[in-house]
Order: sequence, then C-alpha cells, then structure tokens
Amino acid sequence: MLSREDNEFATRIGPGTAIGDLMRQYWVPALLSSELPGPDSGPIRVLLLGEKLVAFRDTSGRVGLLPHNCPHRGASLFFGRNEDNGLRCVYHGWKYDVTGRCVDMPSEPPDSDFKHKVKPRGYPCTERAGVVWAYLGPREQPPPMPAFEPFDVPPDQLLAPFALQLNCNWLQALEGDTDTCHVGFLHIGHGSPEEVRDGTFIQYMLRDRAPRYKVLNTEFGATYGAYRPADTDDELYWRIGHFLFPLYTMPPVGVLGRRVGVTAWIPMDDHHTIRLMFGLPSANAAPPGQRVGIQKGMRQKILPNTTGWLGRFRPEQNEDNDYLIDRESQRRLDSYTGIGGGNPAEDQAVTESMGGIYDRTQERLGTSDMMVIRVRRRLMAAAKALTDEGVTPPGVDEPEAFRQRSGGVVLPKDADWIEATRDLRRAGVEHPELDPSLAGGV
Ligand code: FES
Ligand SMILES: [Fe+2]
Repeated sequence: MLSREDNEFATRIGPGTAIGDLMRQYWVPALLSSELPGPDSGPIRVLLLGEKLVAFRDTSGRVGLLPHNCPHRGASLFFGRNEDNGLRCVYHGWKYDVTGRCVDMPSEPPDSDFKHKVKPRGYPCTERAGVVWAYLGPREQPPPMPAFEPFDVPPDQLLAPFALQLNCNWLQALEGDTDTCHVGFLHIGHGSPEEVRDGTFIQYMLRDRAPRYKVLNTEFGATYGAYRPADTDDELYWRIGHFLFPLYTMPPVGVLGRRVGVTAWIPMDDHHTIRLMFGLPSANAAPPGQRVGIQKGMRQKILPNTTGWLGRFRPEQNEDNDYLIDRESQRRLDSYTGIGGGNPAEDQAVTESMGGIYDRTQERLGTSDMMVIRVRRRLMAAAKALTDEGVTPPGVDEPEAFRQRSGGVVLPKDADWIEATRDLRRAGVEHPELDPSLAGGV
C-alpha cells in the first residue's frame, strides 16, 4: 500500500516530476527503427515521458527527435517536409537538422543571422536492437548507453522487437513482471502437473502456486528469486528475475543462462505505456504469447499504427471489447482467463482493469508482493536522492551493470541462490550444456 502522495510520486513522469527527472538521467527507448523505414520517410508523432515529439529519419539515415511545436510560432513539425537532411516546417519554411539546429530560415532577410539564435531543442538519438533510443536529460554529453546483451549482435539476428500499447500507467504495467506468482494463475492456471512433461519448471509451478521470495538490491536495481520445491526434497526450483533502472524488467522466463531478453515499460504519458520486448531468439525465448508453453491461443493482434499521439501499437483486444474474453473457453479451461492472444493480452487485461493509475491506498499486499514493494522503494529512494541531493541514480554511468540474464534454475536446497547463479546470470557466457526444454510446456 502506498500513501496518496507516494502513489502520485511513484507514477507521474512528466517534465519536472521526480520520477520523470529520474528517467531523464538515462537513455530511454523511444520508438522502433522500423517506424522510420527509410531516409526522408514520413515524420511520426511520438508521445514519450509526457512530451509531444516528432521523429524523422533524414536523408543520411540519421534519426531526429524534436519537440513537435516549431520553435518559430509553434506549428507542428509533424506536417513538415522531410528533405535534404532536415525537417522543414511548412508554415514559414524554417528547417531543422536532426539535432534541432535551425539550418535555414527563408522567411527572414538573407543577411539575417537570426537562425543562429534559435536554440536547438533536439534530443540525441541512437539505434540499437531495432530500437531508437533517446536521451531527454540535462547533460551536455549523454551518459553511455546501457550495454544490454542483445546489443552484442546485429539486429537481424534478434527477434523482431515486439511493442504493445497499454492503457495504464507505466509502473502499474511494470509491476506485473515483478510479481511472478501471477503466472501460476493468470497464464497457466488451467494446467495440471499431470499433463506436462515430468521434471520441467512448468510442472513445479503447477504443483506449488505459492512460491516463497527472496529479494536483493543490486547495482542496477533489484533482483528476486521465487522458489518452490523441485523433484526431490533436496532441490528447489528458483525463478530469478530483475528490475533494472529506470524502466526495465528481465522476467524469469525459460532457463537461466540460456535466455537473453529485455522488457522496457516506456511511459508515453502518465496513463499510457508501451511494453517493448527485445532479445535473442532461442528455444526458450519463443515469440511473446507462446512463452509459457502451456498457454493456448494465438498471438495478440496489433492494429495498424495511425498517426495520432496514441496511435502506435494498439492491440485489437482492449477494454472496449473486454479483450475478447470467451466465457465458454474460460469454463472449459482452454485457458484460465478465456482471453486468447497469449500472455501479454492477459497481462494487459488485468493491469488495465485496475484503472489508469490504480489508487494504491486501496491495495493489500501479501508476502508474494515483496518484489513489487522493493521496486517501488528503490525507485522512490533514487528519485528523492536525485531531487534532494543531486545523486546520480544507479547504473547511469555503469553500462556494464545492465549485462544480466534472468530465468529458472534448479539448485540444491542449501545453495546460496545468488552465489550459485553468478555465472548463469552473467551476459555473454555460453551454456550449451543447459537444456532449454527444461522450462517445459504442453
Ligand atoms: S511556425 Fe514553423 S516556420 Fe513558422
Ligand atoms: Fe504475466
């Protein structure tokens, strides 16, 4: 439970808010590279951290991200002409390069130097893993990019990044990934241990739906281990996952040591979020929607993007159609929810159903919510330290801290879960001896 003030504090992300300022210390994923398919392609509207921006790819292929109001008299640069290495406002022809520098001002006399007096307002951008990243922060020189493991390989060897717009606050959405016990209900509650392969993680989850938790602060955020019995009395099955500042999770999907993936919960504004997943394909990093294996139903359909501020990556299943819930299917236990379209659709339904920003004065957190509580505390403490004392938040200047892996593992009962998994949690280490099918499914 949070007080009313803390609930506001933890969730609001616009300019000048504590968490908004915290996020602006970091590079953040802004859009998919594929949304700007080629040089001089059409500019798009991007709503990011409560700011209305326009993104474009110039003639040389570079990406620019500018406030959408033209610095002259505020016409939207969305309508701009994207030509000859710059975006030209159609109102009076002022032209901006990707840094936001005004490079032409044809409405002023030729001897005027006024264009040099217009301050550039573009945000630095860079592309990794098929995603455009932007730095919206105060530093003259942006910090280093986080060194996520998927950046080690060319984008065409990665799964296509999966983006989904959620109609709720970013933290509310992120918290689903820190609450691993919901998997045993929401996603696989229709399963039984008898119908899955013996000795698989999914069987352990179906046998015991109330895992115990350990949580730990780390240099990048926080890590949890949710554990329950495995096959023998001497072993435990651990689900190890992470929160990484300021808006990432690595959920414990698949086998620890084999899965390479990152989820970003990107605030568009206080009430809209993009869930972005990127990573390496592998036997245990199946496309979203098929990740738990026992999940039935097809992959969630995404509507074609429109040009509106909220027009990107909208799911066909949404609150207006009750996520296409099928009560018969729910009764028959085709799935626990009766909501097809895979795990992200189920996550979306429950998370959005709380409302745009849930009133957390009303919640009652149990022992399974330890990681939810820890992540809030970590975020709020870092935001306060930044606001009150100017303390640089975790990981901003430590790109290597983001080189983590998450997943499931069976450990001897008396093992120290952190010590025993040090090597498995490290990025860039091959573990061919590990069998990804151990995660299981039907
Ligand atoms: S408003 Fe853009 S050039 Fe005048
Ligand atoms: Fe989920």
